[in-house]
Amino acid sequence: ISLKHHNTFGIDVKAKSFVQINGLVQLQRVLELKAYPEKFILSGGSNVLLTKDLDALVMHINLKGISIVEETNDEVILKVMAGENWHELVLWTLERGYGGLENLSLIPGNTGTAPIQNIGAYGVELKDVFVSCAAMEIESGELVAFDKESCKFGYRDSFFKNEGKGKYIITSVTFKLTKGNHQLHTGYGAIEEELKKNNVIYPTIRDVSDAVIAIRQSKLPDPKEIGNSGSFFKNPVISKKTFEKLKKSHPKVPSYKTDEGFKIPAGWLIEQCGFKGKRFGNAGVHEKQALVLVNLGNVTGQEILELAEKIQEEVLNTFKIKITPEVNIIK
Ligand code: EPU
Repeated sequence: ISLKHHNTFGIDVKAKSFVQINGLVQLQRVLELKAYPEKFILSGGSNVLLTKDLDALVMHINLKGISIVEETNDEVILKVMAGENWHELVLWTLERGYGGLENLSLIPGNTGTAPIQNIGAYGVELKDVFVSCAAMEIESGELVAFDKESCKFGYRDSFFKNEGKGKYIITSVTFKLTKGNHQLHTGYGAIEEELKKNNVIYPTIRDVSDAVIAIRQSKLPDPKEIGNSGSFFKNPVISKKTFEKLKKSHPKVPSYKTDEGFKIPAGWLIEQCGFKGKRFGNAGVHEKQALVLVNLGNVTGQEILELAEKIQEEVLNTFKIKITPEVNIIK
């Protein structure tokens, strides 16, 4: 079976076998199947680069359901099954007036994979609304609960990308959202500009979501039209010393100060190296956001990988800064 429609890059690799997982008991049974020693967990396929056919049983996590676990006058606790599409969940919460996910509008992928890389955008990260998640241990088939602390969230990082890698399948995520007393995050420059442009003075969660959607649509390619995986690299954090040197040679370098040093937009570094909008065979660098690699027509995972390595090398040579992929590369 081809996985072309199961990864947002639209890469046409084949899986030896494929099963859709619709329930927890089924998930447990499939994990026990001895006939398939190799198993590969696939969710929304929005943060993965497949570079070869998979000699494995691909398990497509399709667990569905959204339920309210607890509700007070000003808060609501939601439990969302892993296979729920992220943006549809955001819209579901907006319709009910629940705040917290609006800045994370239009991020591709499913709810179950959101904690793995602690998805984030426009000043908000998943960890800001996260309460806990449930995950099935692959080896034992047991369900384990993870609270926020045990998830060890960092910038596009968590326990599930490190010690927990390959050991668990997240089955549901629990969020705490607000009702009415919304703390909006509109500090991100582009959001402020967008709200101003629309003459919004007292924004609602819906206004913030609309602004985020407009910004994303203006620079990020829609995976349904042009295959891509969002930001391909993480933004590197460099020391104060390296930053000061960089500022001398490139006075206009954009940066954000963090606890560890200075975060530099990888998109800027890549653009400076001349890659923006360039095509290499069927692989390309998006014309409006250099951090996004795109499928310009039947690209192979290998081609994207080669382009990514070329970019890393060029950025390293030019700036002495190492950029690392955000996307999970399956070699
Ligand atoms: N820039 C350039 N050239 C480019 C792209 C960016 O010069 O081609 C510079 C500009 O100065 C721009 C700055 O980089 O002002 C920041 O760009 P942008 O606001 O697009 O954000 P980003 O740092 O490139 C990060 C996330 C995005 C997220 C946005 C908004 C990472 C790796 N990426 O991108 O997340 O949507 O901020 O919060 O942290 C994703 O993870 O897939 C993703 C899209």
